[in-house]
Amino acid sequence: MGAELGGKVAIVTGAASGIGRATAQALVAAGAKVALFDRVDTAETAEGFESGNTAAFRVDVTDEASVIAGVAAVEERFGGIDILAHLAGIFEYAPLLETSLEDFNRILNINVSGTFLIVRETVRAMRRLGRGGRIITTSSELAQLGREGHAAYCASKSAAAAMARCWAREFGPDILVNAIAPGPVDTPLLGWKATPDDLKASELAGNPLGRIGQPQEIAAVIRFLVGPGGSYITGQTIGANGGAAM
Ligand SMILES: NC(=O)c1ccc[n+]([C@@H]2O[C@H](COP(=O)([O-])OP(=O)(O)OC[C@H]3O[C@@H](n4cnc5c(N)ncnc54)[C@H](O)[C@@H]3O)[C@@H](O)[C@H]2O)c1
Repeated sequence: MGAELGGKVAIVTGAASGIGRATAQALVAAGAKVALFDRVDTAETAEGFESGNTAAFRVDVTDEASVIAGVAAVEERFGGIDILAHLAGIFEYAPLLETSLEDFNRILNINVSGTFLIVRETVRAMRRLGRGGRIITTSSELAQLGREGHAAYCASKSAAAAMARCWAREFGPDILVNAIAPGPVDTPLLGWKATPDDLKASELAGNPLGRIGQPQEIAAVIRFLVGPGGSYITGQTIGANGGAAM
């Protein structure tokens, strides 16, 4: 593959699964060195990569000490950080009348505070290196559409897009920050294979492409945004959702 990201170092969070794993693979294919961050083992993600292109780190994005240590370990291993693709997140059903404050806060903690922590430490590292950077946070089509039983998730994904806009203003022109907003993508998070057919049909009712997305289709958009083609794009929320939200 080409080397459009040759010489670049990327952190991909959520790299053990789904869109994070596909993004790590896409960035390595584009020539980047990729640090695989996840709270679970990323060994399977790293399989098949030439040695030296990736390094796996067990990082929980909600744990400040873990994030600080992980970012420092990447700087030590690869010499600095140019790109962050932050995919780590959770998707949970939490209907208002049946959701405890603890459960509500847990969803926000992973999806919002985790984003705050990993972006803060990455920006600090980017400033130490002094050659700018690209950051992707992860929103969702559901932040735009809403979904019953998912207020905490939708709030957290609206926050991911709003924070990207704030940080795009705060760190331009050196660091470009955008949010990706996927539609339904075939990963363990969605539980699509376990979802009843009637729910699948209703999910796809407003989707002109009439199908679920693949993780590689989101990874390709992230690869574009962090590469040469994304040089004039910042503060945006980029939908990749089969047209489910417009
Ligand atoms: N799959 C979809 O349909 C869809 C749609 C819209 C948005 N998204 C978003 O895309 C992102 C990736 O989703 P996916 O479908 O690949 O999910 P996934 O469940 O396949 O992967 C998520 C990964 O994040 C990791 N993770 C969770 N909490 C973590 C933490 N505290 N610290 C470190 N790692 C943690 C998990 O271990 C897992 O490997 C998520 O933010 C999700 O909300 C997914």
